[in-house]
Amino acid sequence: MNNQEIINEIRKKIDIVDLISEYVPLVQKGRNYFGICPFHNDTNPSMSVSREKQIYKCFSCGASGNIFTFVSEYENISFREALEKLSSRVGYSITHSRVKKDNVDSKLYEIYDIALKFYQNNINTKEGKEAKKYLHDRSIDDDIIKNFKIGYSLSKDNILMELLLKKGYSYRDMQDIGLVIDNHDMYIDRIMFPLYDPNGRVVGFSGRIYGDKKGNKYVNTKETKIFKKGNCLYNYHIAKEVVREKGYVIVMEGFMDVIRASSIGLSNTVALMGTALTKEQITLIKKLSLNVVLCFDGDTAGARATLSVGRDLEKVGLNPKVIELNNNDDPDTYILKYGKDRFYSLVENAINFSDYKINNLKNHVNFNSDVELANYVDNVLKEVSLIKDEIRREIIIKKLAIETNLSYNTLEKRLSTYLDKTETKEIIKQIDKPKDTRYEKAIKSLLYGMLTSDKIIEKCKKENICFVKPVHRYLSNEIIYNYEKYGSVTIADMYTYLADNKELLALLNEINSTDEYNCTDVAIDDYINVIKKYNMNQEIKRLNELLKKENDLIEKSKIAEKIRLIKIGENSNGQ
Ligand code: CTP
Ligand code: MN
Repeated sequence: MNNQEIINEIRKKIDIVDLISEYVPLVQKGRNYFGICPFHNDTNPSMSVSREKQIYKCFSCGASGNIFTFVSEYENISFREALEKLSSRVGYSITHSRVKKDNVDSKLYEIYDIALKFYQNNINTKEGKEAKKYLHDRSIDDDIIKNFKIGYSLSKDNILMELLLKKGYSYRDMQDIGLVIDNHDMYIDRIMFPLYDPNGRVVGFSGRIYGDKKGNKYVNTKETKIFKKGNCLYNYHIAKEVVREKGYVIVMEGFMDVIRASSIGLSNTVALMGTALTKEQITLIKKLSLNVVLCFDGDTAGARATLSVGRDLEKVGLNPKVIELNNNDDPDTYILKYGKDRFYSLVENAINFSDYKINNLKNHVNFNSDVELANYVDNVLKEVSLIKDEIRREIIIKKLAIETNLSYNTLEKRLSTYLDKTETKEIIKQIDKPKDTRYEKAIKSLLYGMLTSDKIIEKCKKENICFVKPVHRYLSNEIIYNYEKYGSVTIADMYTYLADNKELLALLNEINSTDEYNCTDVAIDDYINVIKKYNMNQEIKRLNELLKKENDLIEKSKIAEKIRLIKIGENSNGQ
């Protein structure tokens, strides 16, 4: 077997429904399975997974592919890495003769590993005593220090720099990576928290000040080739494993909160690095779980963050839950003060974000003022209109009626005007897609047919179908080539063959974005006719243009004869 055949073997051994279920909850409907697409911000389960075809596709964003593309997209790793990862799962190892190792990147990781060991070692030396005491005083014990690989950067300058120079790395490397600045160590006398990428590789550090020293509380590694603060969630690489087992993820603000939560058995916790949520972080959270619990600091900044993060998550179809803490607590201090059990009960009793928002609207409303009251009612109803569950909507309106002394009917009538608006928006979204012409539909259907049936490939070969657009031609050639080489073609395997070809992948996605293909013999004959006729018309058009430009009478008559012959051919062919 050659590499390609082994890869196809691996693909056949791993069922796509089982695989994707590990990442996204799937529900069976008819022959297919459906889930919320992790590749775009979605509220509906628009991703369908087919056990039969061993592919997934999203009807909303158009993402589609096989097991390898899914893992590669989801985990943000290259196609090749996904292949290696999945192959080891079924006991194969793929030789990567074709991949070049990216030496530049691996050097960066190496340097971080050295720095990590250096910092970790320091905290156990005499120089690190004070930092360690600070951590102990905050009830961060030696086990936690070890687990989170917390370290210490010395108060003496240039020690790390010299160590790295001795190991053969250049100033340039250290500077690029953010560990050295202007020929000085970047981190001096700070408690060092390593930051990881989603795959658990160290890609940066955050250095915390301690004791009564002055300066920024945290200094983070600058953005580098491998580190973008906005793409990072603290503890993600650990949480992703634990969330699968617990079924939900807790999002907090700070490192300390996550470390504390982990110490009481809640490692399914991540921290935003700062409170503004980026698109990348939203995608990461959504990938972890659809069940999100927000537990931010109890101060006004925390409340503001809860609202804005909650809204962002709502936009992508999540209804997060919220834990509210007292004004002067954050999760860290709360757990220290009240203990594990009380925090667990807070988690269990977390409230729906929509309820949280509605509760929040009440703040500062003067119920004696008609204007403020009407405004409040409107705002609540706007929020209620976003809730999909009718029963919950009714419960809230009933409560609101009692609270405001307005009739249920009045409230419901007003609500329906907001509901209409949300629904129209969705309809507009749906009719925005341009319709395919008959010709384009024939092309797509025929290519789809080739991807799913050997008989149709044979037929296209025999009929010698000519696809005018290069991208269609390439795909058809690829299909025929693979068919001839391996004896059969599946859509799932085509995703592997075309992994390096963006244009063809896009076409494959487009073809796969719908299921509505009619591939009966009659339909296929019809597509072939449509395509042939289109090609002829194109040719006639081209010749007519030539005819107009041509001055030589003999040439003119030659072209006219050609056109006549094509037209005759068309008539005898068309029936
Ligand atoms: N942060 C930062 N730079 C700062 C302050 C905060 O990058 N100057 C980020 C850190 O990732 C921090 C998070 O914002 O973890 C939340 O900040 P904060 O609540 O102040 O920090 P904690 O981690 O809770 O630390 P501590 O309990 O020691 O105050
Ligand atoms: Mn904090």
